[in-house]
Amino acid sequence: MQTQNRDLTVDAVTDRITGIGLLPVIVVDDLAQARPLARALVDSGLHTAEVTFRTPQALDALAVFAGHPELLVGAGTVRTAEQVRRAQDAGARFVVSPGFSEPVVEACRTREIPVFPGVSSATDIHRATEAGLDVLKFFPAEASGGAAAIAALAAPFPDVRFIPTGGVGPRNLPDYLGLPAVCCVGGSWMVPRDAMRAGDWLGVTELCRQAVAQVAQLRAG
Ligand code: 3PG
Repeated sequence: MQTQNRDLTVDAVTDRITGIGLLPVIVVDDLAQARPLARALVDSGLHTAEVTFRTPQALDALAVFAGHPELLVGAGTVRTAEQVRRAQDAGARFVVSPGFSEPVVEACRTREIPVFPGVSSATDIHRATEAGLDVLKFFPAEASGGAAAIAALAAPFPDVRFIPTGGVGPRNLPDYLGLPAVCCVGGSWMVPRDAMRAGDWLGVTELCRQAVAQVAQLRAG
């Protein structure tokens, strides 16, 4: 499956992420967390991870995750073209950025790696669609108006699908996944930093499992 992940086209990576419907946003404080966290994700059935470039360990952690053939791993908080290069070299299969950056998007296009830039306004979305993108992170989701804002923005951009992230959790997940424009939700609630610091891997596994079950239930209903 690792070979398959490496061979996936841009569209196929996007389809796989949207098929899972969940993007755990991970901050690794200690490289020693990477292996048990990857195991927790696999055990829970949550086969993707966004490893954020927010700590010095991020790149090494990403490489550990990428060594797990069951996981489709991406880099988050990517702010420069150089980070795109380093992330892809470490095994990232997709890139998430907090805002819309032309250099980042261009680097991803050149390297044929999917990119989901953050947007929170009609102007952001317009620029991203002009750059040829149609799957966008909506960030910070709750602070930017939540599901109601996405519903309003989807009207003039019916071809765009969103990954709301920031303030999303079990309580408001149904509001987001209930929108046709939402293809996936991102967040850290299933990989809490304090639980990882405490080494509570059973707890993390259970939170991930619950998130997977909630998405499955919402999609079935
Ligand atoms: C992100 O970077 O995407 C967000 O910080 C994740 O937000 P959350 O911690 O509220 O889920």
